[in-house]
Amino acid sequence: MQIASFPLARTMARLGTESAFVTLAKAKALEAQGRHIIHLEIGEPDFDTPQHVKEAAIAALRNNRTHYTPAQGIPELRDAVADFVNRTRGTDVRRENVLVSPGGKTMIALTLMALLDPDDEIIIPDPAYPAYRSIATYVGARPVSVPLLEERGFRLDVAMLEAAITPKTKLLVINSPHNPTGGILTEDDIASIARIVRRHDMLVISDEIYNRHSYDAPFASYYGLSGMPERSILIDGFSKAWAMTGWRLAFGVMPVAIAEAVGALLLNTVSCTATFSQDAAIAALQGPDEPVRAMRDEFLRRRRILVDGLNAIPGVTCQLPGGAFYVFPNFSAIERDDIKLADYILEQGNVAVLGGSTFGPNGRGFIRMSYANSEANLREALDRIRKTVALYQHAPTVA
Ligand SMILES: Cc1ncc(COP(=O)(O)O)c(C=O)c1O
Repeated sequence: MQIASFPLARTMARLGTESAFVTLAKAKALEAQGRHIIHLEIGEPDFDTPQHVKEAAIAALRNNRTHYTPAQGIPELRDAVADFVNRTRGTDVRRENVLVSPGGKTMIALTLMALLDPDDEIIIPDPAYPAYRSIATYVGARPVSVPLLEERGFRLDVAMLEAAITPKTKLLVINSPHNPTGGILTEDDIASIARIVRRHDMLVISDEIYNRHSYDAPFASYYGLSGMPERSILIDGFSKAWAMTGWRLAFGVMPVAIAEAVGALLLNTVSCTATFSQDAAIAALQGPDEPVRAMRDEFLRRRRILVDGLNAIPGVTCQLPGGAFYVFPNFSAIERDDIKLADYILEQGNVAVLGGSTFGPNGRGFIRMSYANSEANLREALDRIRKTVALYQHAPTVA
């Protein structure tokens, strides 16, 4: 059947993608052919959502909490988020500063849409979570990269940040603990960044979605420590800390004028976040913290297994990341084309991993792997990668 082709909006050409979802689909297709794939590509905890959170959602469904809510979120959850943020960041925010959304990705997208005009510049670390650049470009703004260097533990270099600022700079995105590198900002880094932001009259989006995954030092929050919640937007949520990726549940905290704009975009796009998910979110914020700490402790143990295992592979070096649940090993001695290598590791080695340059050109030569997987799977994946890489190096020609 001939299907008429309609021209898409020109803006679609500016929209990016996210390699984690693309590779997941590829890996699932291989699984459908009967292959056994180990998934180190997607960024989600392999644990179940804590029982008390699931019970709250079940009770909400039984109580017919299945209707629309205000676009900004139910007042009880917005209050619970404000309390939680004040408790964990030492701030003084109120319900009016808080918005609830179906996922942090939605909050990021709508916040960028609310703030960026065409030709505004937004400074984004390179590498970074792809949604920042994709949406900024989609709305016609200009992303400006600041490289995160391996030799600095992938921490933002303040001199490089300042050099990237122009009169058109409106926003800076920071993300600590960081996806894809696992790097973390120190309190000193945060103080220096805040000084620059004040001097240049900018706004900051601080994506702190991995705040519960800081391993070697207590989590340092830009939102809490910068002393500038009036110039900052906090992105946080339930996906990573409470293993709730499929619930689509997150929150943003921001100055009231920006919250009103983002609230209007929520109303125009999603209408609201699922009602029973919002009830469950209150249970997550106010319930026992033990399940979140247990997951974090398990990630800490697995981090070592993956880092040590990767460093034992000839040609691979891997830093010990301070946070999140990713490692970002350097494979450039084996192959600088990380996308080609990641494909090879999936096709020949049956391990799904991501090329570092899918997070930005500065990720070239690196591979992102998640350690949100069982110890047995991590050990098997290391074994497969070691063998596949040896094969790669001896292959006469690699497609
Ligand atoms: C840095 C970062 N921010 C935000 C998100 C969004 O998560 P979600 O949309 O599941 O809340 C992710 C997910 O991978 C992430 O890595």
